[in-house]
Amino acid sequence: ALISLRQLLDHAAEHGYGVPAFNINNLEQVQAILQAAQATNSPVILQASAGARKYAGEAYLRHLVLAAVETHPDIPIVLHQDHGASAAVCVQAIRSGFTSVMMDGSLLEDAKTPASYDYNVRVTADVCRIARAVGVSVEGELGCLGSLETGEAGEEDGVGAEGKLRHDQMLTDPTEAKDFVARTGVDALAIAIGTSHGAYKFTRPPTGEILAIDRIAAIHAAIPNTHLVMHGSSSVPQEWLAIIREFGGDLKETYGVPVEEIVRGIRSGVRKVNIDTDIRLVMTGAMRRSFAQQPSEFDPRKALAAATKAAQALCQQRFEAFGCAGMA
Ligand code: G3H
Ligand code: 13P
Ligand code: NA
Ligand code: ZN
Repeated sequence: ALISLRQLLDHAAEHGYGVPAFNINNLEQVQAILQAAQATNSPVILQASAGARKYAGEAYLRHLVLAAVETHPDIPIVLHQDHGASAAVCVQAIRSGFTSVMMDGSLLEDAKTPASYDYNVRVTADVCRIARAVGVSVEGELGCLGSLETGEAGEEDGVGAEGKLRHDQMLTDPTEAKDFVARTGVDALAIAIGTSHGAYKFTRPPTGEILAIDRIAAIHAAIPNTHLVMHGSSSVPQEWLAIIREFGGDLKETYGVPVEEIVRGIRSGVRKVNIDTDIRLVMTGAMRRSFAQQPSEFDPRKALAAATKAAQALCQQRFEAFGCAGMA
């Protein structure tokens, strides 16, 4: 059944686990995530960006999720709008049946220009008022995602600041978080701790100076009743980078957020862990390998099934590592 983000994350907080929030765009991703949830008896967060609705079409996306609910009646499912850039996007999602929306007021509507604190408070409070009236949860964001190594938001993704960010913009301040929550009423808050979207997060395996996991406990202490969300949480598995390169892909050296660091984050209060890039990487790797190893095959289901299987295995690993398995 579809449930709200608040319901699911309250349960996660009570039992001390984290929930991966996987981005969806098509049938194979929805199936992979739900098969993994079913196999591990995990609740799931399916999240769709505005780009996903544009890619799939609103009705196709909505019916894919309804098909997931019908096929897996015992799995609690949250349908969440990822990075709503305006109140209008959030209202569109609510009309489409989403049970949770992210109003990302850390950036202006162009999803590129860092916004003022006052703008963020105003637009997020507006969305909270609208969403609350219909039982939909709201995630806000305070601080801009960006690399503490380079000051860049992340190069290949559509969501992120353009140009250089200041160091303090890329780290959420606990005192400001307390004020933001009091003035908006968000159920969940995305925090900036040095992660960024996409495959190119870190040029070396991250240490405490570039991935501020230690800051999570201070933010959690300031806003204990608001669920913390970690964006840019793909781990960028080296073995899948190697497979992509082996079968013709061209990816530079890069590192993601180690699963153990995410687990430390969950112990410090993170409840929602956003993952998109890892599914993109494993599906691309599996499809490249499938096409290369079976050059005479022309049924696309062969490559797509390989992609689904690889994505399912990745999702299962995350459900298990985050303590979400068995919690459905
Ligand atoms: O935060 C961004 C997500 O990875 C979604 O990306 O806008 O390309 O669908 P997208
Ligand atoms: P990744 O690019 O690390 O998968 O992050 C996804 C995300 O934060 C979506 O909101
Ligand atoms: Na989100
Ligand atoms: Zn994000």
